[in-house]
Amino acid sequence: MSVRSFRVAVVGAGPAAFFAAGQLLASEDPAIEVDMIERLPTPWGLVRLGVAPDHPNLKTASRVFEKIAQRPGFRFHGNVEVGRDVAHDELTSAYDAVLYANGAQTDRRLGIPGEDLSGSWAATELVAWYNGHPDFQHLSFDLSHERAVVIGNGNVALDVARMLALTREELAPTDTTDAAIEAIVASGIKEILVLGRRGPVQAAWTPTELQEMGELAGADVLVDPAALELDAASEAELAGASNIVGRNVEILRELAARRPAGKPRVVRLRFQGSPVTVLGDERVEALEIVHNRLEADSSGRVRAVATDEREVIPCGIVFRSVGYHGVALPGVPFDETSGTIPNTDGRVLGGDGIPVPGVYCAGWIKRGPTGVIGTNKKDAAETVELLLEDARNGALPKPSGRSIDELLAERGVEVVTYAGWAAIDTIERSRGEEQGRPRVKLCTWEELLAAARSA
Ligand SMILES: Cc1cc2nc3c(=O)[nH]c(=O)nc-3n(C[C@H](O)[C@H](O)[C@H](O)COP(=O)(O)OP(=O)(O)OC[C@H]3O[C@@H](n4cnc5c(N)ncnc54)[C@H](O)[C@@H]3O)c2cc1C
Ligand SMILES: NC(=O)c1ccc[n+]([C@@H]2O[C@H](COP(=O)([O-])OP(=O)(O)OC[C@H]3O[C@@H](n4cnc5c(N)ncnc54)[C@H](OP(=O)(O)O)[C@@H]3O)[C@@H](O)[C@H]2O)c1
Repeated sequence: MSVRSFRVAVVGAGPAAFFAAGQLLASEDPAIEVDMIERLPTPWGLVRLGVAPDHPNLKTASRVFEKIAQRPGFRFHGNVEVGRDVAHDELTSAYDAVLYANGAQTDRRLGIPGEDLSGSWAATELVAWYNGHPDFQHLSFDLSHERAVVIGNGNVALDVARMLALTREELAPTDTTDAAIEAIVASGIKEILVLGRRGPVQAAWTPTELQEMGELAGADVLVDPAALELDAASEAELAGASNIVGRNVEILRELAARRPAGKPRVVRLRFQGSPVTVLGDERVEALEIVHNRLEADSSGRVRAVATDEREVIPCGIVFRSVGYHGVALPGVPFDETSGTIPNTDGRVLGGDGIPVPGVYCAGWIKRGPTGVIGTNKKDAAETVELLLEDARNGALPKPSGRSIDELLAERGVEVVTYAGWAAIDTIERSRGEEQGRPRVKLCTWEELLAAARSA
């Protein structure tokens, strides 16, 4: 029997935060109350603001989170940013434990000249823009050029390429913002070139997503059959690889064998090319790449090795889709190289490598920016198990500070409660219903906060 309820602050409201909250709230000994603290007025993290809008089924993962939010002991504090509105040490003083699940908020850099030229964008920016993230609605993407290059061979690169290729009919039933729908439909882009630095066997995308590229109404997918003649290192890797890799290669072979149907746009999948320089005076005019050969290193990992052959690809816009990256929060241990909070299985480590009592992490900020929504469930469970073990063993420091409700009220922070979010949700869904869409998002801070106030 537990003597008292423990109170845990969970920072973030994405999948990792909700899975962790669900597992904490399910504990009977000790009993746990959860305050979820999220910088946006809206929950669900990348499920709302990352997952592509033309994948509505994946967005329904939020139904699981809605159920968790209904459990006794759960409170949502939206529009509260840790590091701005409330400090790390204020959280550790106010709660028995703090669990960081704040995701990876920025992009991994390429580190090449011209990366910051106008017209060179991080995929993170385009994704946040078409999904209605309130921090990204002022961006203006010039889609008037004939060729766009997407750098990277992951699922986000495919999302970006696919979204740029969708027709009005494909976009209309989605919750893509109206501004993005208009810009994509009116775009002058004829070719979207997706560039991988390694080969087809090493691509990080998954078969369902790759297959979908061949089913676009307004774009043919082009794959050069020569790119699928595998080198010895890739053949060896393929022989021992998972079904996923084998299926990817099969799909690429099917795509390469197709005749283009003459659709208005093409998506070209190219391999073994690394970006060297983004070229242009005032803005992007071309991308210089180096051709790579592939070789296995001593561990058997196939890596790209630059050859002497270079090529300049004329293009008007570049999307760098080479991964997300975590951002440091003041006072919270952070490893700049990996963009994660140093931890052992979710117990946060201080500078001395020793666990900081009562501080935990889960999700992308714990393990880096890879894995699908479901991956965060197991990841959060690992962390929560240790947190509960520490609680049972009396290893959590006793809260001694002021409650965050008091601190936030004193600072005039307008907290969006779960009822506030429910009001936003209702407005968005009813606007969507009128148009046969899952929702029409409110995507400015003003609109979101006004809707939350109506609760
Ligand atoms: C473009 C894209 C598309 C994807 N599509 C799919 C898909 O189709 N299917 C699939 O299974 N997976 C998909 N994924 C992967 C999936 O979204 C991630 O695995 C998952 O969202 C990671 O969860 P998380 O909770 O760690 O981070 P996030 O989802 O990023 O959540 C982190 C939350 O923390 C909040 N936060 C950040 N800083 C602070 C702060 N200082 N104070 C308070 N709150 C803060 C953020 O606002 C955010 O709400 C996609 C990922 C991306 C990037
Ligand atoms: N529908 C879905 O299920 C879905 C949709 C979107 C995202 N997600 C998931 O979200 C996670 C993040 O996706 P992601 O696409 O951002 O990351 P990712 O899967 O890690 O892919 C990153 C890609 O960038 C490449 N890259 C990295 N550094 C590079 C460089 N300097 N130059 C050229 N290329 C470089 C990588 O190539 P190397 O392999 O050579 O390093 C890789 O192809 C993944 O787990 C993904 O599966 C899932």
